[in-house]
Amino acid sequence: MDQQLLKDVENIIGTIRRVNILDDQGCTSEVLQIFTDDSSYLLKSSFKEKYREWLKAEAQVLESLNNKNLIRVPNYYGFFETMHSSHIIMSFENGITLTSALKKAKKLAEKKLLIRSFGQILNQLHETKTIESLNHKNDWLEQQLIKAEYYLKSGESDGGIQLLEKLKSNKPLPIPRTLIHGDCTTDNVLVVKGEVRVFIDVAGMTVGDPRYDESLAIRSFGDNDELIKAFYEGYKRYKVSKEEFQYFDEGLYEFF
Ligand SMILES: Nc1ncnc2c1ncn2[C@@H]1O[C@H](COP(=O)(O)OP(=O)(O)OP(=O)(O)O)[C@@H](O)[C@H]1O
Ligand SMILES: [Mg+2]
Repeated sequence: MDQQLLKDVENIIGTIRRVNILDDQGCTSEVLQIFTDDSSYLLKSSFKEKYREWLKAEAQVLESLNNKNLIRVPNYYGFFETMHSSHIIMSFENGITLTSALKKAKKLAEKKLLIRSFGQILNQLHETKTIESLNHKNDWLEQQLIKAEYYLKSGESDGGIQLLEKLKSNKPLPIPRTLIHGDCTTDNVLVVKGEVRVFIDVAGMTVGDPRYDESLAIRSFGDNDELIKAFYEGYKRYKVSKEEFQYFDEGLYEFF
């Protein structure tokens, strides 16, 4: 950690005693666990322009949810930018990602419990009353398609022009909007004591189409009927059709 960064962080949380580089690094950021005398924090840093924008969005979401006890996300302590980098300081949550927990789980029964709790916490999120700071009047899908086009044109997406045109002309019939996570894969939730308890990586949290979360949530175990069943024991709102799943997971997600 360079001296200036150290100083900027200490301005927010006080004297740093120890720093630990996490094994599980993000794709779009670097993450460090930072210890002070009485607490431990997560410093999340991004350097590329696109990811710096996402980090700023994440800071705004965390700040707007701070101390509200509405949705389980890390506590927010601060955000700052330098010429070439952006940084968030949040609480360090003692958990492991659901992806890691599923890898560690030896028995199918254990995996099912984890996935059922994932369904439950997502159900809870989608049932949470919208809060003013995360609300907006825009059509979420329309906005995502505009962003997708922007990433496509700047060469920053995996999806191609044909796929984008298809997504624009084959939008699924609208359903009621809810609060959504916006990148709800098994990488972006933390498991504590055998249950999914915390949402992380919340840059995309807003009011939008819950089918996007649902599709990304089940993408890594969608071919396993038992695990899908476990998910829907927890997630009771609505079941995406195969077409909807494909629209969101194999379609829209390609651009992000
Ligand atoms: N508040 C937190 N407490 C503890 N660990 C965390 C916290 N936030 C993130 N992590 C750890 O850091 C890793 C990367 O975090 P995060 O998913 O936010 O980064 P990212 O770069 O946006 O990820 P990606 O782009 O790969 O989805 C997570 O997998 C998790 O292990
Ligand atoms: Mg992530």
